[in-house]
Amino acid sequence: MQRDLEKLRAFYAEAPDDICLSDVDLDRIPSHVSIIMDGNGRWAQARGLDRSEGHVAGVDSLRETVTTSVRLGLDVLSVYAFSTENWKRPQHEVNLLMHLFATTLLKELPLFHQENVRLRFLGDLNQLPDETRSVFQEGLDETADHDGMTFALAVNYGARKEIVKACREISELVKRGELDPADIDEELFSSHLYTVGLPDPDLLIRTSGELRLSNYLLWQLAYTEFYVTDTLWPDFDRWEFLRAVRSFQGRNRRFGGVTGK
Ligand code: FPP
Repeated sequence: MQRDLEKLRAFYAEAPDDICLSDVDLDRIPSHVSIIMDGNGRWAQARGLDRSEGHVAGVDSLRETVTTSVRLGLDVLSVYAFSTENWKRPQHEVNLLMHLFATTLLKELPLFHQENVRLRFLGDLNQLPDETRSVFQEGLDETADHDGMTFALAVNYGARKEIVKACREISELVKRGELDPADIDEELFSSHLYTVGLPDPDLLIRTSGELRLSNYLLWQLAYTEFYVTDTLWPDFDRWEFLRAVRSFQGRNRRFGGVTGK
């Protein structure tokens, strides 16, 4: 966990009434925060705009969230940008999102350099349009040497597919005689998931008030604390992030055990 206290304090100056930086314990910042970014469409519709305007506004929230995560000293920020089910959206919306992912990533590369952020992708990238895939590859190559925070973008991600993929890979190893079924344990299974090498999320934030997981990180969220806010994704900002961290720090994480034992 790396953190520049001076930059952090400047970033969190001019606090609103209900929350300020000193409300959180900087020694207990979650290592991995994951976010289901939801509500772009409703944000746009409430303003009489096309849904696409909501996605465009969502980019600004995401940029601020990446910076917030770096300032707070997270090890990993992961976000759910496009699910395996999102292909069912109208074709023009899918096209816009794929284009937005590519253009945003290119535009934000200087930020990733400046903040020493390393990119990761979670999901099956083979199905993505060429433009998106090649920009994603460029992002991976350009940030491979960074050793600050990891920013993991889930695109064409589905947790059930991910679990089936792991089962297939492990079965192949068994079939080839390279693995004894008795040696299959949670650690081995995790190493066949897209998230290999990342710690499980400590905190999951979902915006727009929906109370469901939507096929996101089903394995990895086993002991994660949830924070759901009614705020729509384009309105999510550094203060809302701090409220989520404050709530997380008020929880008693027992991991199935008993407090104090
Ligand atoms: C959910 O809102 C949002 C998405 C499916 C797309 C997420 C995309 C962004 C935040 C844009 C920027 C992302 C990157 C990676 C550059 P929704 O459309 O489901 O909203 P609704 O539930 O109100 O319809």
